[in-house]
Amino acid sequence: MSMIEQLAAIGDDAESRAAEVATLAELDSLGSELLGKRSRLGELKKGLRDLDEDERRAAGRALNDANARVQAALDARRADLEAQERRRRLDDERLDLTETIATRALGHLHLVTQTHDRLEDVFVGMGFTVAEGPEVETDWYNFQALNIPESHPARSMWDTLYVDLGPPESTVLRTHTSPVQIRVMEGGPPPIYSIMPGRVYRRDTADASHMPVFHQIEGLVVDKGISFADLAGTLEAFTTAYFGGAIHSRLRPSYFPFTEPSAEYDINCLFCLGEGCQTCGRTGWMELGGCGMVHPNVFASVGYDPEEWSGFAFGFGTDRLSMNRHGINDIRELFTNDIRFLTQF
Ligand code: PHE
Repeated sequence: MSMIEQLAAIGDDAESRAAEVATLAELDSLGSELLGKRSRLGELKKGLRDLDEDERRAAGRALNDANARVQAALDARRADLEAQERRRRLDDERLDLTETIATRALGHLHLVTQTHDRLEDVFVGMGFTVAEGPEVETDWYNFQALNIPESHPARSMWDTLYVDLGPPESTVLRTHTSPVQIRVMEGGPPPIYSIMPGRVYRRDTADASHMPVFHQIEGLVVDKGISFADLAGTLEAFTTAYFGGAIHSRLRPSYFPFTEPSAEYDINCLFCLGEGCQTCGRTGWMELGGCGMVHPNVFASVGYDPEEWSGFAFGFGTDRLSMNRHGINDIRELFTNDIRFLTQF
């Protein structure tokens, strides 16, 4: 093979091998292999000295051209690899500034509302309808229509918050949901099977078990021939439907001006199921609220004939139900609206 042919082969070989190199490091070692002292080109250069003057000049020029061709192939590949490397680095360092919509952004019903919804479901399943009344009431609805005349000693059962409206002490924040009984009865004739959930207010200092605002659910049944047995049976049916078959109810004699006879409504302790524990003061029972047969004077205030109709009413606090169910030991949590607390339920 003539020297010209050998140089052409070296150039071809350099071009195809440079194109296959994948990294800059590989390209560097290919460069020294093709252009270094021990390379094929290097050896041919050494051979120049054995040639005579004319041949040497021609061969020297051909060698320089071949050298330049190899160098050009390496430089071209270097430019490619550096461009690739730059693209890769830009991709790696790219900041993703896409805005995404937080999946937790939707809220949900407050724990107390969830509890009222569940209570309503059970009573609606038993044939009751749901009614509501105002939280700012007149003295008449909150007290007088419920057989609690002015200066009646029973008024001290409720530490009343008054609203500065009208004559002194004529407007109150309702101290219980019982005034809604009056409004429901005023709304139409019996039969009535209603429950009335809502917020009530009493002059109380906030602590772990008291709040000046809390929640009750009232029940009222008025029909022909309603007896105390119907009251006891309804509360027992509600108790097992809401709390499950292990929890039962009992009634203890008590006093309320708007019911006669009156009773306290207790259920088995939800923690010890009646065994007796610290939460229930070792009695095995938890007090939920009051109940009784609607007093004839209450029927009289709404124009119902107590000879024709009879009925029962009950009212109990609902905050404690949410607290027992979820192991909450401070009632203030239900009202401070700390999002870290609320999102747990
Ligand atoms: N309103 C009473 C209370 O808040 C509870 C009650 C309601 C008692 C209905 C009897 C009948 O203490």
